[in-house]
Amino acid sequence: MSELLDKAREYEAAREKQILPQDRPAFHLSPRAGWMNDPNGFCFYNGKYHLFYQYHPYRTVWDLMYWGHAVSTDLLHWDYLPAALAPDMPYDCAGCFSGSALTLPDGRHALYYTGVQKELCPDGIERDVQTQNIAVGDGINYTKYEGNPVLTDADLPDGGSRVDFRDPKAWQEADGTYRMLAANKNSFDGSQLLLFKSIDGFDWKFESVFDSNRDRIGKMWECPDFFSLDGKYILLSSAQDMLPQGLEYHNGNGNFYITGTFDEKTGQFREEGNHAIDCGIDFYAAQTVVTPDGRRVMIGWLQNWDTCSGYKPPVPWFGQMTVPRELSLRSDGILIQNPVREIENLRNNRVAYDDVVVDNTETALPGVEGRCVDLTVEIEVADPQDLYRKFAVRFAKNEKYHTDVSFRPAESVLKIDRKFAGSRRAIVHQRRAEVSHENGRIKLRLILDRFSAEIFVNDGEKVMTAAVFTEQEAREITFLAEGKAKIRVVKYDLDC
Ligand code: FRU
Repeated sequence: MSELLDKAREYEAAREKQILPQDRPAFHLSPRAGWMNDPNGFCFYNGKYHLFYQYHPYRTVWDLMYWGHAVSTDLLHWDYLPAALAPDMPYDCAGCFSGSALTLPDGRHALYYTGVQKELCPDGIERDVQTQNIAVGDGINYTKYEGNPVLTDADLPDGGSRVDFRDPKAWQEADGTYRMLAANKNSFDGSQLLLFKSIDGFDWKFESVFDSNRDRIGKMWECPDFFSLDGKYILLSSAQDMLPQGLEYHNGNGNFYITGTFDEKTGQFREEGNHAIDCGIDFYAAQTVVTPDGRRVMIGWLQNWDTCSGYKPPVPWFGQMTVPRELSLRSDGILIQNPVREIENLRNNRVAYDDVVVDNTETALPGVEGRCVDLTVEIEVADPQDLYRKFAVRFAKNEKYHTDVSFRPAESVLKIDRKFAGSRRAIVHQRRAEVSHENGRIKLRLILDRFSAEIFVNDGEKVMTAAVFTEQEAREITFLAEGKAKIRVVKYDLDC
């Protein structure tokens, strides 16, 4: 083991002990120490889910990247393992960036990741150069492959950038051969996703330009994932430098999925439709795993790069993962996401109310409160002739703070607003999304953990996610309307 990795492992073990469990999310993964960004290498290996993550153990800011590591048997209770990768080789000395994991035929575990190296270019400017690399191990300790880097600028098609070439997603095909998608900036239309092929998982050859952004959906596409689901193929990616598009995409870093078909002969993805994966404020770099019982489960970074710099939440760590979400594809091409069913095992203290009419006086319901809750609210009109103008559920609330999720049926717009959640920075605090409803009938499921809110709309056809760092004493939940709305409420505490 390298000295760099050894030192990080020692440091994180000591630092973890200084962070009180109540200062972390209850069932969302946060970094063992320091900083976390993208999920990496999400997989099921030797009887456990493994989740690695972009990691800087020493400070709560993005810096030299390591891979942190945690395991779980239910995707909700995570145990930390020692950091898996340190930037300890010449080809990754400026960082071990994002990637994926595979089980090799001999049972060993392979991590595919981007190595970053600084290079002084002829114009006198120092730039990152990115290559793809492999580390092989047993689920705890990994040795970097002696043939690294396995993909370099020599493998790029014309116009591909050696500075932005990253985030390998590797998988095995039914015939036993391997494929890899990697993100790459190009000199013509923004960025492209490149498909590589390997017979043994180690020796890779360029196959095709799988898809490219053609000046739409942001500029640099990052962190691809690709899989078939319910008869279609789905590409997940996150994009830098987005321009807004209606309420679907927003300025800055965003996330999207594209449905389509895959032409095996040309190695090209034929797009059908694209949408945001998550329409909230904080979601990026999603990855998926297939569970032993065949579910496709996705996890994302519960943050956004645009809200990171200059914003220091009042916690001794930075970055958390979303709740893992089961995916399915509806026949109209909409990706349906719901919290993994394992979350039902955390449910306690059921409280339910039927046919509560709410109006412009804030309504609190006895037993409906808390910061770790699974709360379903079904909203409809109180009088069929009289559509309410607005309905809101207000949570993480005390006399000083609150966050609102509000719905205006006439506009079909759902909004999350954390302006009064306690932040003292001018980061994005509000986001709106278009949602479907029938005469004001809509279903919201709120998954609240200590430092986050995830809103699943109409059984998962839209999701809005936001980090919420309000003091934990703010635990009230109330309901209000402009006009009159009738609601059914079911609330569980989520215990970890
Ligand atoms: C996305 C990303 C990846 C990169 C990593 C670096 O969030 O920029 O493209 O591998 O973060 O930490």
